[in-house]
Amino acid sequence: MMSRLSTAFVFIQAIVLCTGADPTPLVIWHGMGDSCCNPFSMGSIMRMVENEIPGIYINSLKIGDTTTADIMNGFLKPISDQITMACEIVKADANLANGFNAMGFSQGGQFLRALAQQCDGIQMHNLITFGGQHQGVYGFPKCPSSVTFCDSLRQILNTAAYRPVVQDHLVQAEYWHDPLHVNEYLSKNIFLPDINNENKVNEEYKQRLQALNKFVMVRFNNDTMVEPVASEWFGFYTPGQDEEVQSLQESDLYQTDQLGLKAMDEAGKLVFLATDGDHLQFTDEWFNANILQYLK
Ligand SMILES: *[C@@H]1O[C@H](CO)[C@@H](O)[C@H](O)[C@H]1NC(C)=O
Repeated sequence: MMSRLSTAFVFIQAIVLCTGADPTPLVIWHGMGDSCCNPFSMGSIMRMVENEIPGIYINSLKIGDTTTADIMNGFLKPISDQITMACEIVKADANLANGFNAMGFSQGGQFLRALAQQCDGIQMHNLITFGGQHQGVYGFPKCPSSVTFCDSLRQILNTAAYRPVVQDHLVQAEYWHDPLHVNEYLSKNIFLPDINNENKVNEEYKQRLQALNKFVMVRFNNDTMVEPVASEWFGFYTPGQDEEVQSLQESDLYQTDQLGLKAMDEAGKLVFLATDGDHLQFTDEWFNANILQYLK
């Protein structure tokens, strides 16, 4: 009797596990001037997702011990240190051990992509970047209103982005991509040419990126904070000038497939979404209709 009961119990448990499986967990990385848990930004995104996917586990990455540290680290902590921290946070979180989806906002988008490429042993399923700058920026026409020192930031980037002291101490300089000085960019930028496999092909980066199920890139058609907006879809200026823009598919990076993006495109893994509006501006309806499917 006992054993029959316990067999039945195990059987029922198995059914529950198969049909009522917990939703895939979600990792979020906030943007510049923001923090993990600001109720009006990442907090409201988390509530929106939790409403649509009851019971979902969300880890909104906090880079630092306090909210202030989290915000300041988004300007001052070298990106490789931030990736190392994020890698440790994700690996230490037992809820993420069986895999997760990831959503990155603005610079958090390219940071999550770097995490996918560099953090060995994690299982990122779908990566969704909102206004991410995968080919960097050559201009911040406007900053979020929360960034009070925006003009100084812009001035440093325009004049001294590739000085070692700036590369080591200003996050945004690490994705400053000067199309007029390609050699300087390739030799002095310490982040972007590396994760984009531009100087040498890192096979591990390539394999880990291709292990994604979907890589979804959201572009904001009327973005006034990112130049060029094409970077949000992995496009950039044609090398040597700063007017004509190339799509990812037209670029050498794609044609030579140094990063495996062409292979991913051909396998249907790249998803390009666009929405009207300024940087990171979208409605709940748009999110539910276009993004939710990648979080389930
Ligand atoms: C936003 O961009 C789209 C696509 O370029 C354009 O059709 C639309 O008119 C723009 N909207 C505004 C308010 O500028």
